[in-house]
Amino acid sequence: MRIEWFKFRVIGQSFYARKFWTLRGAHRFVRELVGFGMKAKIQPLSSALGAEVTDLDICEIARGSDLAAVQEAFLEYHLLCFRLPPLSRSQFFNLASLFGVPQLQLIRRERDVDVPEVAIFVSTYENPQDKPKDLGSVRLSGWHTDDSYFQIPAKATLLQALDIPESGGETRFCNTQAAYEDLSMEMKHKLDGKQAVHKYDTKRAVASPKKLSNIENSETLDVVHPLVRTHDDTHAKAIYYNSNRTDSVVGISSEESNALLDQLGVHITQNKYRYDHEWRVGDVLLWDNRSLVHSVNVDFPVGQTRRHQRILLKGCRPV
Ligand SMILES: [Fe+2]
Repeated sequence: MRIEWFKFRVIGQSFYARKFWTLRGAHRFVRELVGFGMKAKIQPLSSALGAEVTDLDICEIARGSDLAAVQEAFLEYHLLCFRLPPLSRSQFFNLASLFGVPQLQLIRRERDVDVPEVAIFVSTYENPQDKPKDLGSVRLSGWHTDDSYFQIPAKATLLQALDIPESGGETRFCNTQAAYEDLSMEMKHKLDGKQAVHKYDTKRAVASPKKLSNIENSETLDVVHPLVRTHDDTHAKAIYYNSNRTDSVVGISSEESNALLDQLGVHITQNKYRYDHEWRVGDVLLWDNRSLVHSVNVDFPVGQTRRHQRILLKGCRPV
């Protein structure tokens, strides 16, 4: 009997050791435990990142049902897609509040009058001359993580599609945590402890950012962040690079800095780390700015409205 119990313990422990071998496995295991009996279904969207949440009752989740499992899935998949009808500003705010604290966004003119934590983004090409021949020169096409020009960037973004064009306009994501894990030991040592300057407007970006008012300018002083950040919930490491904002690596020459940042930019945007989201009206994407970068396929027809509402959730200072 004692031997049987010992065998059970050894086999059981090796089972759980395997489960916890990867962080993804650990989060899936926790989700299986807390999600026992849940109604919502969570299905992966790609091998790189992302999961679709269906059969989710927003009223139920607001009462706590399924919430822990959905929050665990967010940490596991980095991005969740909720298939919903368009939400009012206050419904959107309430949904966002289940995952964190909504914060005011930098640009005042984009804030909703009634719920100022909601920003309305219109990326429509109104006229043919608005759509450049070189689509790589459109600011939205640059791979970035939201808000990195702040000392405390938003931990997550919620974006809901209100109007979408008939073609194009996908938002594309890459998993910078997987990209970090794949680095050679030599490269990990090279990045260890390195810091980078993030600017609202850096010469490295493909295009100029949105114009700011005086007060907005005063809130966007240059900041320094680690090139590799540790996730404050999962403790996993990820490359923290923003092609629209990361200006230079501290302590090395500008030539070395540009070469290193270019190398990281190419590495993190490989197809194996990538998922492209084709929007449906009402889709809400919730993504983790601590472990993903994103960009927009800006090739969509002139005159077709592309409009979203966005909420940013308060984060911690990257370390
Ligand atoms: Fe963004």
